[in-house]
Amino acid sequence: MEHKVEWAVIPAAGRGTRFLPITKGVSKEMLNIVDRPTIDYIVEECLDAGIKNIVFIVSNEKEDIKKYYGEDKKFYDEMIAAKKDEYAEIIDSIPKKANFYYVLQEETLGLGHAVLQAKKVVGNNNFVVCCGDDITDFIKGKSPIKELVEAFNKVDGKTIVGGKKVKHEEIVKYGCMDILRKVDENIYELKGIVEKPKLEEATSDLASLGKWVFNPRIFGILENTPKGKGGEIQLTDAIEIIRKEEGAYFASFEATRYDCGDKLGYLKAVLNYAFKNEEYKKGLLEFIEEKTKK
Ligand code: UTP
Repeated sequence: MEHKVEWAVIPAAGRGTRFLPITKGVSKEMLNIVDRPTIDYIVEECLDAGIKNIVFIVSNEKEDIKKYYGEDKKFYDEMIAAKKDEYAEIIDSIPKKANFYYVLQEETLGLGHAVLQAKKVVGNNNFVVCCGDDITDFIKGKSPIKELVEAFNKVDGKTIVGGKKVKHEEIVKYGCMDILRKVDENIYELKGIVEKPKLEEATSDLASLGKWVFNPRIFGILENTPKGKGGEIQLTDAIEIIRKEEGAYFASFEATRYDCGDKLGYLKAVLNYAFKNEEYKKGLLEFIEEKTKK
């Protein structure tokens, strides 16, 4: 039986305190990478996996996400009147990329709470969750979400935690996988997840990196998950409950990932995508050479 995944939930209601002061005025998910907001790289990843129903979890302050994906008839008409059809086409194409939904998370009570808010839209469907600030540079047709959905089917529609192997000393920053057994090339059954372990306590170097696939049973579990660390409803706590009930798995993906919620990670992402354009690459390399000479 195929376990179809046709919905994506993108939590983007967080405060982005690591990125202050900019996040006082602009959502970190809307920070610009070359000519598109960070979150649009995630939307493109969803589209690569054939997912066209995209639910943004937003706060009242995140009107800029709605504005970006909404229609702008005035701007469109202005471009047409100015005979700038190619710009008009860009403006017109953005809302048509996918079916966009917005769900308000009234209080930032954690990632688990953010995901639970999507229940009223996603209902009884399988879905992926992708953090709004974690992007990956993938080869077309091979996005991490696509790989994770394939893994979800291999384990008969059970929870998939997506991630990668990280340098041993870096595992302390992430959710660390405690592995029960290997079940396929890149899939492992989980014994548990330890959030940000001490280096000596880490049982693997496999890190959770902002992408999951769930069946809708996770909603019922999230509804009953008590507040955990930091007084927030933690997605990891709900995964531990569903793991005990039906099993949960880790699947690794290929693509390089950039943590755009972190200033250095974001700057690396900007350079990575700028370097894809030969003209910018040349100019930037000359500039970097000049800067590093001094
Ligand atoms: P983060 O912890 O990276 O986001 O959550 P944050 O809280 O905005 O960041 P800092 O630590 O204050 O700098 C991962 C993702 O989950 C979303 C965030 O928007 C981000 O995309 N999130 C987090 C929510 O949507 N709601 C929450 O209550 C918490």
